[in-house]
Amino acid sequence: MKKLWGGRFTGSAEEWVDEFGASISFDQELAKQDIEGSVAHATMLAACGIITEAEANEIVQGLKKLAYQAEQGELDYSVKLEDIHLNLEHHLTELIGPTGGKLHTARSRNDQVATDMHLYLKEQVSDIIMLITDFQQALIQQAEQNIETILPGYTHLQRAQPISFAHHLMAYFWMLDRDKQRFSESLKRINLSPLGAGALAGTTFPIDRHKTASMLGFAGIYENSLDAVSDRDFILEFLSDSSLLMMHLSRLCEEIILWTSQEFQFIELSDAFTTGSSIMPQKKNPDMAELIRGKTGRVYGSLIGLLTILKGLPLAYNKDMQEDKEGMFDTVKTVRGSLKIITGMVGTMKVRKDKMESSVKNDFSNATELADYLASKGLPFRQAHEIVGKLVLTCIEKGCYLGELPLAVYKDMNSLFEEDIYEVLNPYNAIDRRNSAGGTGFSQVRAQLEKAKNLL
Ligand code: ARG
Repeated sequence: MKKLWGGRFTGSAEEWVDEFGASISFDQELAKQDIEGSVAHATMLAACGIITEAEANEIVQGLKKLAYQAEQGELDYSVKLEDIHLNLEHHLTELIGPTGGKLHTARSRNDQVATDMHLYLKEQVSDIIMLITDFQQALIQQAEQNIETILPGYTHLQRAQPISFAHHLMAYFWMLDRDKQRFSESLKRINLSPLGAGALAGTTFPIDRHKTASMLGFAGIYENSLDAVSDRDFILEFLSDSSLLMMHLSRLCEEIILWTSQEFQFIELSDAFTTGSSIMPQKKNPDMAELIRGKTGRVYGSLIGLLTILKGLPLAYNKDMQEDKEGMFDTVKTVRGSLKIITGMVGTMKVRKDKMESSVKNDFSNATELADYLASKGLPFRQAHEIVGKLVLTCIEKGCYLGELPLAVYKDMNSLFEEDIYEVLNPYNAIDRRNSAGGTGFSQVRAQLEKAKNLL
């Protein structure tokens, strides 16, 4: 098979060298976008009088056939033809004859590949935004059923203060909301057309870049042809937004893994998202949560990989840039898969209210309540803190919790203590009273849920 760029060559590379240089094994994923870009380009060429209407028609009809065949998986791709662009051009020429060779007028693979990837990411990012919304929906549903489900909140993985489980879940809702904002804002930058930048310097043909841009649904064009073919910041931004999103999912997965353990027993996952052990019959492993946590690593890897690929490249296109694709495809697949799994997992998990509640009743996570109690009676908070610290120590020595100490012990420590401390120590009341804006107080959580629902 003759190379489409073979004119100045006499020798040819061996198959294994071609294989090393080829991207067709992975960039065939861009067939649809490549054809869309070509249809717009051919149509524009005719509109600008660069090829005839008849030629453009022939090309467009041919491309449409190829689009169908590509979708059916009927197109053969060859490593000899390097990449998706040359493979499709070859098929087009086979189909319609030499007119196919006019398609590449006023275009280079450099602006072509950049255009394909902009089109691809535009679609994927919009889908990902919808998948995030689905997950937020699942979080809201669980939260609504668990406003008055109480559990210990943790800092340093040590019990800190009692909170509402809905409050805990909604923390993730807002993280995801910012993730969504980041993806949405990135669309502004993805939504620019590099097409018509040529290899690097533009073209001598009287093309209309705005026409192709608007045919392809882009909001505008890259203003500088060198920039248009050289930068991959739109992919980096996607990888970076994806890394942040995955970090959020991974943290929740880590919590899910903890919560399903025998030590916590706060939730039970549906059988659909767990697996058994081949040797230990009692096991139910949170594999899917672990995998999302694990896959976060490969997304970070793609981000660091591409940053590293680009950092030393002179303008404009360099073949190194072909390495931009696999990490991007892999990240799209990973993010989409992770979002679907976590939506199902959180939507179907069983919350063990009894376990959460009993654990919060058997700990010192209500100690702050006592310190606040004394402080609200005028004692400087530092002194109050010291006194309660001593009371906790007393409890530890006696082997009891704060609610079990007799009032006399409290009175001995400080005369400001009254009978009502036992109400204050009740974790349910502790939560109910935390009504500062954004706090875990039940009325605040309800207000938060209303805001969240309005956002979706
Ligand atoms: N397969 C190439 C890539 O993905 C397309 C661009 C090739 N351009 C070139 N001048 N060799 O980067």
